[in-house]
Formats: sequence, C-alpha cells, structure tokens
Amino acid sequence: MTYADVYRRSIEDPEGFWMEQSETIDWVKPPSKALFADNAPLYEWFKDAQVNTCWNAVDRHVEAGRGDQLAIIHDSPITHSTKGITYRELQSRVASLAGALRAKGIEKGDRVIIYMPMIPEALEAMLACTRLGAIHSVVFGGFAANELAVRIDDATPKAIIAASCGLEPGRVVHYKPLLDAAIDAATHKPDFTVIFQREQEVAKLIEGRDFAWHSFQYGVEPAECVPVSGDHPAYILYTSGTTGQPKGVVRPTAGHLVALQWTMTAKYNIAPGDVFWAASDVGWVVGHSYICYAPLIAGATTIVFEGKPVGTPDAGTFWRVIQNHKVKSFFTAPTALRAIKREDPTGAFIKDYNLKNLQALFLAGERADPDTVNWAAEKLGVPVIDHWWQTETGWVIAGNPMGIELLPIKVGSPTVPMPGYDIKVLDEGGHPLPNGQLGAIAIKLPLPPGTLPTLWNAEARFKKSYLTTFPGYYETGDAGYLDQDGYVYIMARTDDVINVAGHRLSTGAMEEVLASHPDVGECAVIGVTDALKGQMPLGFLCLNKGVDRSPDAVIKECVALIRDKIGPVAAFKLAVVVDRLPKTRSGKILRATMVKIADGESFKMPATIDDPAILDEIETALKSIGYAKR
Ligand code: COA
Ligand code: AMP
Repeated sequence: MTYADVYRRSIEDPEGFWMEQSETIDWVKPPSKALFADNAPLYEWFKDAQVNTCWNAVDRHVEAGRGDQLAIIHDSPITHSTKGITYRELQSRVASLAGALRAKGIEKGDRVIIYMPMIPEALEAMLACTRLGAIHSVVFGGFAANELAVRIDDATPKAIIAASCGLEPGRVVHYKPLLDAAIDAATHKPDFTVIFQREQEVAKLIEGRDFAWHSFQYGVEPAECVPVSGDHPAYILYTSGTTGQPKGVVRPTAGHLVALQWTMTAKYNIAPGDVFWAASDVGWVVGHSYICYAPLIAGATTIVFEGKPVGTPDAGTFWRVIQNHKVKSFFTAPTALRAIKREDPTGAFIKDYNLKNLQALFLAGERADPDTVNWAAEKLGVPVIDHWWQTETGWVIAGNPMGIELLPIKVGSPTVPMPGYDIKVLDEGGHPLPNGQLGAIAIKLPLPPGTLPTLWNAEARFKKSYLTTFPGYYETGDAGYLDQDGYVYIMARTDDVINVAGHRLSTGAMEEVLASHPDVGECAVIGVTDALKGQMPLGFLCLNKGVDRSPDAVIKECVALIRDKIGPVAAFKLAVVVDRLPKTRSGKILRATMVKIADGESFKMPATIDDPAILDEIETALKSIGYAKR
C-alpha cells in the first residue's frame, strides 16, 4: 500500500480504516464501532469499548515474552548516570505505586497532578494513574508555583505526585517549596502528596499530607489494570491559549492507544525491541506521546534523557546517547539542533560517534527552518523529517509516513496530511483557498482518534476556541498553505500564541502578569524572531501617569514578575518603556505590525491605524535595545 492509498481510505472509509487499526490494541471489550457522531460537532471514537492504557503499554509485553527487554533507559548527563528498567520491572514498579495510590483512596476518574523532572519515576507515575483509570495531569517543571496553582484549581486533584527537585545545568530546581506554595495559593487542596526524594535534595515532608515514594508503597497490594470505557480521559494536559487561563486538553483513552500505535509503525517505522528517543520533556505533549506512551504501547525501548543539547557536557551529548543506546528513530525540536549547530558548526562531534543504528531524525514543535534541516541532513546522512502537530491532536497532523513509504522531502514543509486529517486552507469567510495561497489552516470534522474531544470542564470554551470560526471544521490556530502536490506549509500562528525554544507560550498570559505591576498602565507582548529560540517574548510597557521611577527599574521588576508568576520557561528578558501603543481606531493593539518593525521587515501601514506617528516611537524604542534593524 502506498501513502496515497492509506490516506484515501482513511478519508473515504474512516469507520473501516480505524476499526482495522484498532486490532493492534488489546481490548477488555472491543469496540462495536469506531465513530460515535450522535453528539456532533463533538465526536467520540471507540466509546463503547473497555480497555486499559497501562495494560497496553506494559503488561501485554510481559505476557508476550518481552519481560526482560528494556522498557526505559534513563540517561542523565547531569547526574552522570544511566540505568535501564525492563518491562517486567516496570510492571512491578507501576503495579506497586498504583496499589499504594489505591490504598489511599485514588479511584477511576480521580485526578492526580504529576510534577516531576526527567526521571523514570515520572513515567511510572503516569502509568500508575492510567492503570487505575485515574486521570493524570503532568505539569512542566519550568512553570512557577502560580501556574501550578491554576492547574490545581482547574483539575481539582485528589493527589499530587512530585519529586523533591529537578536539575537544570548549574542549578537545582526546588520542586517541594514550589509545590507547597502552589498548594497554599490554590483554593482546592489535594488529600495528599507523594514525594520522590532525589539524593541531590531531600525535601521536608509535612506529616499527614506528604508521603515518601518508597515508604508509601511498603506492604501494599499491587494493583491490577482497571478497565475504562473508550472515551474515558487518559489525561488532561494544559496548554497555552490566548489568556492566562490555560486550556485543559482532554486525551481520550481508546483513540489515544489506536492512533499512537499507528504512528509508531507507519510514521516512525518502529517495531517491538527498537529504541526510540524523543528529547523533550514529560511536561509537554511530545513527552506524553513519545517519551511515555507510544514507544511503550509499541513494545519499544524509550529513553528518558535528563540533559540539554549543549552544555551537558557538550554539543556531542545527543550523538553519544544515540550511539550508546542504539537509537533507531530520534525526535527533537529544531531549536535544539540550532543550539548544537551554533557550538559545533562543522559537526565535529558527530564524527566522534557511531550512528549506524539511526534511520531518521524527526523534528517538531516549531517551524523547521531550512538552514537547520539542511545542516542536520548533511552532517547526519539520514532523512531529516519535519512533522506538524499540536497538544490538541496528540499526534502528527502532517508528516512523512516513513513506515509506509518515505515521500520526497521538501525542506520547509512537514509533508502531507496523516490519516483522518482532511486539511483545508480557508479564507476569513471560511471558503477554501486555491493551492499556494496563504490562509487559516482548518481540519474538516471529525478529527481522527486520539485528538481532543473537549477541554476539561470547559465545553463552551472548546467550541468557541476551535469549532466556531469555521463551522464544520477544527480551527488549528496555524496559518499556511498547500502546494500543488498536497504538501502542507505552516507559516505562523493566527492567535497570540508564540513559540519559544519549542515551548508554546501565551503572550496574553504575559500581558496579564505585566498589567498587574503597580506602575504599568498598559502593555503588549509580542514574539520577536530569535536565531536560537525561534521567537522571544518582548514587552512594551506604558507607565502610569505620575510614575517617575527609572524605566530600567520597572523593566527589571517586570522581568522578575514574569519569572515568578509564569516561570523561567517564559524566557521573558526583553522589554521597553514607551509612551503609547499603536492601535486601530477601534482600540485594537497592532501587535503584528510591531512584530514586523522589531524584526526589521517592511510592512503595510494598517488602514485602520489611529495615529501612524506612534510607529516611529515604537521603532526608536526597539532600536535602543538592538531590534528594528533593517
Ligand atoms: N525545570 C525548571 N526550569 C526549566 C526547565 C525545567 N524542566 N526547563 C527549562 N527551564 C528553565 C531554564 O533553566 C532556563 O532558565 P534560566 O532563565 O535560569 O536560564 C529557562 O527555563 C529557559 O529555558 P529554555 O528556553 O529551554 O532555554 P535554555 O537557554 O535553558 O536552553 C535550548 C536553550 C535551545 C538548549 C533549550 O531550549 C532546548 O533544548 N530546547 C528544546 C526544547 C524542546 O525539546 N521542546 C519540546 C518540544 S518537542
Ligand atoms: P504544542 O501544542 O506545544 O505542540 O505547539 C503546537 C504549535 O507549535 C502548532 O500549532 C504550531 O504553531 C507549532 N508547530 C508544531 N510543530 C510544527 C512544525 N513542524 N512546523 C511548524 N510549526 C509547528
């Protein structure tokens, strides 16, 4: 079968296509049909099945005789350690943790927040939740206590599982004080927490509320897998929207299993026993799908890497991991390659390692710039495959299905739509545009299995954010075009989301924080182009009348405020004080025009601008910090 055959079938006969794919999964009760459309435009897949995620990711491989194969390799250049966990060990560790959670009252449907760094215990915590049918929500370690508190109040977890600390190069991230502060700040209080004590920092536990990971499990009965219905949420993952309130993307259990298994063979060409590595973080969707679930569902070995592309200890660390653990498919973000290329432009480190097992490099998370793709392809000598997806979809929307056939690579395009994604480029009125024309990218409903059926506790917001602008379609929030061969090009976001080092951030959320500074009257945050991180946030601050403090002092406080309220991951370091912001006559801030000025690009004077002279003031302010250079 060619890609074209597979794709056509998925669009013409989605029911038959996905029922066939569902045969790769172990069901307690198989689905009677694939698509449930009675509540359209809300759709469910495999809703009437009974199934368990952890069984499919762990136990079934032990039953099938793969118990002695490595399930997880933890490689931490930060702690100078490597360790392996077999499927059999993983099964007993996860069953024990799940048993301890159950003994403390965690049941099917309860939420559990997981706040952990890149250690195998993070995956074990996720799997222990899905084993019980509890719904986990992993929070990225680079977020501040306030962001954690917002998630606690939205997900209302019965328990929080955390580690005592995370390790960034040269700095210990003190998770426990952040966790304590978040619980204090949140209105909802969890019944208890479980703390994995790392040797780098032993956290102080609060008696009666905090339990140590090991003693908590002592003497408990291991838990078996609890069947859940196909539409049961496997997890909630919060992602940035246009406001400070993150969106809780719900991942449905059965569709997630079927879709991820499909991707492992058809997209990444991975078979049981192969080694797959996604150098991301469990706090992001890539970490959920491709560090934890998909490689394990497929019976492969996954790598949990605690380090950075450069500086831990050098720009050769990725290649060392690929060589030492015989990685077959490697997945990272373009920004990581840019960091490596900057330190090692000739690829000298690559030559030091034997990368014979590597079949392909997959890129996602942000637009893959041609320079970086060409550099990697030349230095590594393997296909460099860009692919496009979102937290909302959980798996690739457009990619190159190398397990079916490797289509010709067009640098700058993540290739073609994957099964079930009927991609259209629309104009503002929702009419399809001809090939080559830039527009809003939308996907005809229903989305395929595994994609979000709704937002947690926010169905109205789900409909408003994704289903309203273009009735009958899912609005991706990305703009781009299709070429004459059906290749997709993703060019920009249509909303206030920016992408900093592969991390999705909301400028709206940053503006809310800046506006809370007592001296700031008005503000705007934009994403400016950055050679390493793709984009960097840049703030414009208008100070309140009568404020006569030095602008630099206010800027410094604003930088600290964002780090404190959102977290270091926001990478907010640039701001300027201006008198006024450019606006339309109806009062809308002209952020897109400000981006063009900052990047030194030419722009068309917006017809609705209120006072064009303000743009000169913006340009002068930007020049004072080294931007707006033509
Ligand atoms: N816990 C706590 N803090 C974290 C963190 C975590 N898990 N991850 C990042 N941070 C902190 C960093 O320490 C840094 O803090 P600093 O301001 O004190 O230096 C800040 O957040 C910004 O981090 P980042 O944007 O990652 O920049 P960096 O300068 O540390 O590293 C790169 C730059 C390019 C090497 C790095 O961003 C990278 O590896 N990116 C790849 C991202 C990726 O894989 N994304 C997943 C999408 S697939
Ligand atoms: P996230 O939800 O964090 O995975 O971010 C999703 C967003 O990142 C998408 O909507 C795009 O804007 C961007 N993105 C992800 N992958 C790509 C890609 N391959 N090319 C261009 N943009 C991408």
